[in-house]
Amino acid sequence: MQEKLRLGVNIDHVATIRNARGGVHPSPINAALIAEKAGADGITAHLREDRRHISDEDIYELIEKIQLPLNLEMAATGEMLQIALKTKPHAACIVPEKRQEVTTEGGLDVVGLKASLREYTSELAKSGIRVSLFIDADKKQIDAAKELAVPVVELHTGAYAHGIAGELDKLQQAAKYCAELGIECHAGHGLTFNNVAQIAVIPQVIELNIGHFLIGEAIFCGLETAIKKMRGFMDEARGL
Ligand code: PXP
Repeated sequence: MQEKLRLGVNIDHVATIRNARGGVHPSPINAALIAEKAGADGITAHLREDRRHISDEDIYELIEKIQLPLNLEMAATGEMLQIALKTKPHAACIVPEKRQEVTTEGGLDVVGLKASLREYTSELAKSGIRVSLFIDADKKQIDAAKELAVPVVELHTGAYAHGIAGELDKLQQAAKYCAELGIECHAGHGLTFNNVAQIAVIPQVIELNIGHFLIGEAIFCGLETAIKKMRGFMDEARGL
C-alpha cells in the first residue's frame, strides 16, 4: 500500500466560463470552496499575464476565503513576483508562458534560464513561499532545478496525456530521479479519469494538479462528484 496522493484542483477554467460573459458567475472562489468540501488537498490557480481566466481579485479573494493551501502558477516576470510577494500563497509554481498558446505547452527551460531564475526563486523562497518549477520529464532539467535548490518540481504530463509513446516511462524515471535528489515530485496537465491511474501509481509522485477535465466533467455530474471520482481513481491506483 502506498501513501495517499495529494490532489490540487486547478480552478482556472471556472474563470474562463465566467469571463465569457464578463460577469461574476460562475465564481472560481465558490469552486474552490466546493473542492475543499470534496476532499481536495490544495487549490491551484494560474494568473496569466494576459489575465484570460483568473484575475488579480480572484487571487486576493482565494487567499482570504479558502482554508486549503493555494498554489499560484505564474510566469517568471517581475509583475508576478510582486503579486506573489504581496499575496504570499503557500506555493508558487513557475511556468513558461506564451501569449498565443491555448495552454501551457511545455515545461520551463530551467537549464537555459538558470541564471535569471536563481534570483527569482530565491526571492520567493526568502518570503516563505514554496517554489516549484513546471518541467518536462528530463534529467537535465531536474539537475538544473536541484542547482536552484527548489524543494519541488512538477512534471508536465501533457505529452503522456496525448498518448505519445515512451512518455510514461520518462515520467517514471524522472519521478524516481527527483526522489534520489531529494526533490518533491508533483505532476499534472491533461489528466483525466482514464489516464490518471498510471501517473497516480508512480510511488515518488506526491501531488497531482488537475483542472480542465474536472471543470469540464463538472458540467455533467457536478464539481463535487467529479473531484470525488478523481480522488477515487487516484486512491484506487495506490491500493488505498
Ligand atoms: N499544472 C500546471 C503547472 C499547469 O499549468 C496546468 C494547466 O494550467 C495544470 C497542472 C492542469 O492542467 P489541466 O488543466 O490540463 O488539468
